[in-house]
Amino acid sequence: MAEPVFDVTQPKEDELDIRPLSGALGAEVRGIDLKQLDESDFETIHSLLMQYSVLAIHDQAHLSDDDLRDFGLRWGELDVHGYSPTVKGFKDLLNIRSGPERRASAEGWHSDVSWKEIPPKISMLLARTVPSIGGDTVYASQYKAYEDLSDPMKDLLEQLDAEHDGRVFDIDLIRKPVRHPVVLRHPETGRKALYVNAGFTRRIADLPPIESQGILSMLYDHCTRVRYQARVRYEVGTLSIWDNRCVQHCAPPDYGYEERELHRVAVLCDERPAR
Ligand code: SIN
Repeated sequence: MAEPVFDVTQPKEDELDIRPLSGALGAEVRGIDLKQLDESDFETIHSLLMQYSVLAIHDQAHLSDDDLRDFGLRWGELDVHGYSPTVKGFKDLLNIRSGPERRASAEGWHSDVSWKEIPPKISMLLARTVPSIGGDTVYASQYKAYEDLSDPMKDLLEQLDAEHDGRVFDIDLIRKPVRHPVVLRHPETGRKALYVNAGFTRRIADLPPIESQGILSMLYDHCTRVRYQARVRYEVGTLSIWDNRCVQHCAPPDYGYEERELHRVAVLCDERPAR
């Protein structure tokens, strides 16, 4: 097995208020201004993200949409989703908005845009308007889900690819499925993670339907078990940031018709997911 290539020990971590969200993944962070990050601060956030997979960085309401994009660009090239509504004037800033006339649609578990050849490695949501209660994003660690499998199951899954498509956005995308490994190796931490999700994965490649369906059904039940989860509870100005290479997420629409608006930036992987 390859050695992890990322050193999670960085300066300044001890100056921040960092509280783990659950025993599985995630941490809340206070005491940093994402508009004023020097290289060392950025490395601290990067290091924390590699360690916790999800961060809820509070008190960022002063960030403009341009500031949010600039923070995203520090991680790499931004995804242009191409189908979801955007913030006016931006093609790479999604407007995740629900309210009396528009219900939320991300209730199902997924890893962002896994239907593209180069999917996002990192996504971030900046909370502009939050409901009076509910409206959390729920995350599940795909490192832990993988690590808990039996050795024979790991051996089987590591040989397999799965096909993903974006039919929920455009039915024509059925004709353009992409293949990714069922188990990927995270290029920065060196850890292995499951990489199939009920939102976009359609089949295990090269298997007959009955085998593909059986394996995916087992994995979907397994990979989102409560034991692998943590929730980000938003305040106005909370920026949630997560690593799609080792996390799935969903957004329970449990706040009726109240307003909820978050602006999303997604940063592309440097290369295709690989084993
Ligand atoms: C998303 O799936 O990107 C949106 C998640 C959310 O609305 O919390």
